[in-house]
Amino acid sequence: MSDLDHIMSVMDAAFDPHWREAWTRQQVENSLAMPHTYAIIFDKHARLLAPGSEAAGFILARRAPSEEELLLIGVRPEVRNSGVGRALIEYFSDVARKEGAERVFLEMRANNPAEKLYLSCGFEPIGRRANYYRTLDGTLLDAITFAQRL
Ligand SMILES: CC(C)(COP(=O)(O)OP(=O)(O)OC[C@H]1O[C@@H](n2cnc3c(N)ncnc32)[C@H](O)[C@@H]1OP(=O)(O)O)[C@@H](O)C(=O)NCCC(=O)NCCS
Repeated sequence: MSDLDHIMSVMDAAFDPHWREAWTRQQVENSLAMPHTYAIIFDKHARLLAPGSEAAGFILARRAPSEEELLLIGVRPEVRNSGVGRALIEYFSDVARKEGAERVFLEMRANNPAEKLYLSCGFEPIGRRANYYRTLDGTLLDAITFAQRL
């Protein structure tokens, strides 16, 4: 299985279509073809995926000269609340720091319970875009930008 296959198998399981946050296979493929976009894929033990293992969670991220952006994070429902999400974020921040980033960013829909995880990982809300997301039933939700100083 390719990284793209692993990411899409987690994507299909992790994201509720109602929120319209999941990316299509084409979107992921296009983004990974860009030179500064990369994926971190972990197994259920929160270790980097080894050949032959099953992916439990992933982060898609984009690198810029002094900052990085966490584009998307997903963990399979059956392995949630065992620390895979936190380990992915800590690994991402660690790699960004080593690459010379001073800050990392992410953006989240206003009512996502993942906020608790982001706050406890050291992210702080720094901005809000009104009515940025539209759910399947047409409800509009703000986007909140979080930043973590490294
Ligand atoms: C957000 C997500 C990646 C977290 O993954 P996870 O592996 O369950 O995270 P962890 O086990 O490391 O959780 C760490 C902490 O955050 C809390 N937390 C995580 N997700 C939560 C949720 N959905 N609701 C409430 N609390 C949550 C946990 O209670 C835990 O707190 P604790 O350490 O104080 O006990 C996962 O819930 C997910 O894939 N959600 C769907 C996709 C999504 O919304 N992604 C984010 C937007 S792009």
